[in-house]
Amino acid sequence: MSIIADNNEFQNNTIMEKKKHSVIKPECSDNDRNFENSIRPKSFESYIGQTALKETLKISIAAAKKRGLPLDHLLFYGPPGLGKTTLAGVIAEQMGVDIKITSAPALERPRDIIGILMSLKGGEILFIDEIHRLNKVAEEILYPAMEDFFLDMTTGKSQTVKTLRIPLPKFTLIGATTKAGELSGPLRDRFGIIHRLEFYTEEELARVITRTAGILNIEITEEGAKAIAKRSRGTPRIANRLVKRVSDYALVKHDGKITKDIANKSLDILKIDNFGLDNTDRSLLKLIIEKYDGGPVGIETIAAAIGEDVRTIEDVCEPFLLQSGLLQRTPRGRKISPAAYRHLGYKNGEINEQQCLF
Ligand code: ADE
Repeated sequence: MSIIADNNEFQNNTIMEKKKHSVIKPECSDNDRNFENSIRPKSFESYIGQTALKETLKISIAAAKKRGLPLDHLLFYGPPGLGKTTLAGVIAEQMGVDIKITSAPALERPRDIIGILMSLKGGEILFIDEIHRLNKVAEEILYPAMEDFFLDMTTGKSQTVKTLRIPLPKFTLIGATTKAGELSGPLRDRFGIIHRLEFYTEEELARVITRTAGILNIEITEEGAKAIAKRSRGTPRIANRLVKRVSDYALVKHDGKITKDIANKSLDILKIDNFGLDNTDRSLLKLIIEKYDGGPVGIETIAAAIGEDVRTIEDVCEPFLLQSGLLQRTPRGRKISPAAYRHLGYKNGEINEQQCLF
């Protein structure tokens, strides 16, 4: 079965290069990363979802192979957890080349980016996560490297300054960002292919969940997978985390098998509601309703009041709240939508305790 094949496929996952260049995400711990690596699909066939994007990528890959050239530089953007790193790994596999993975915060000093560029071999892929966080110096080192495959280095001081052009092998840069708008124009313009990753449908997430459960030897019914998918806010990373949590519950309270009933009970205990919102999301929405009359209110005020940092709210909570129409972003701040009042059980500005989910 394909699940077994997928499992073997990833036993020797070497996608992460050196520790220094491993991806650091605020919402992703070391444990999460190891888990994610163990279940990452390696081929377009086992990568579920992003159907239109996969088709265009297959064409770009086939064309690059026919020309005998590396793929154009690629930029992936979209909310976290939708599979940008995974897709970069699939592309490397399909191109038959190695991938070096790093993130912009790990490229603090010029020598960090110079070192990684000089370590690349012909055709290899360099993946830079959170590329919007690259500093100006690193960006300027990248421009000639991306455009002409050269490193421009200066040596000496004032009058004796010399510029050296060091040739680099042709490589492909894959950049990933949750904030395409924060990328500088010159950097964005150097990517030949730019794609947005979309939230997953419930049906796609149920397939991701079934696949992950198969790899982890967790028994799950179709309805159980659908129940988890419904509360995974369109995000495979969340779906995969929930499978593990629900599996713990199923093992301790029952026979280990995830059914619809077990999934729902376990997710209720985790306080994940039927929209996939957790305590933080609900606190954010309730704060705007109760203290700011539905908004608009500034993001800094919200962050201080609920004790989260602005970046976590912007990168982790907001994309799904905005996409699902519960929250609106206006020039004067965040505003609650009528759907959020209904979802949280408010009627005429008052909370209805019977309807209140948690
Ligand atoms: N695990 C995480 N993302 C996935 C995807 N898109 N397809 C299959 N398994 C996944």
